Amino acid sequence: MITEMGYRMPEVNVAVVVGSNRLQSINRRLAQALVKLADGKITAKLVRIDDLPMYNQDAERPLPASVARFKAEIGAADALLFVTPEHSRSIPAVLKNAIDWGARPHGQSVWIGKPAAITGTSPGAIGTAVAQQHLRQVLGSLGAVVMGGEAYITFRPDLVDAGGNITDDGTRQFLQAFVDQFAALAARFAGSATARAA
Ligand code: FNR
Repeated sequence: MITEMGYRMPEVNVAVVVGSNRLQSINRRLAQALVKLADGKITAKLVRIDDLPMYNQDAERPLPASVARFKAEIGAADALLFVTPEHSRSIPAVLKNAIDWGARPHGQSVWIGKPAAITGTSPGAIGTAVAQQHLRQVLGSLGAVVMGGEAYITFRPDLVDAGGNITDDGTRQFLQAFVDQFAALAARFAGSATARAA
């Protein structure tokens, strides 16, 4: 990206983590809509977590290939966007499993200093509020820089259309502001991931 002043802005690389392993995940649909709202501001990559084995400290050395790939993708990102369902009033096990792998082995965590934004959707009235609060606590405990603000989204079947657009004007404007806040935060960290990984 070239600014009006002629300076080349660093690319803002975002890893998107969807806390669901469901093929028809409504959170993946929301994540794709958010990436569309951030078009031109970030370069997004959806990071898989459904292929990670169940965490086991005995399996840390050597790291399973899928875990090494996951950690490299998180490590290379300037910022992280979590879009999570709520399971039993917390984060789904598949997401907690991925977070635990990312924190290990001891001293090799990928979460420290990573800017992260959290949102999510469920058909329930409070739209994953409890799961998001738990995730905020978990990521904070691991040293991530969790963006302030809240985006609890109650899902309706027509929330995201076939083209990946948020159909409701009010919800779209609200999420646009959320995405813009996140893109601005991520831009402040652009280029830092490469430096850390080196
Ligand atoms: C749920 N669901 C759910 N929803 C919610 O708002 N609060 C909750 O505590 C739970 N708990 C819960 C537990 C389990 C085991 C399942 C399978 C589901 C419903 C959930 O929001 C719904 O299945 C969403 O479709 C999940 O999001 P994805 O996987 O489609 O992205």
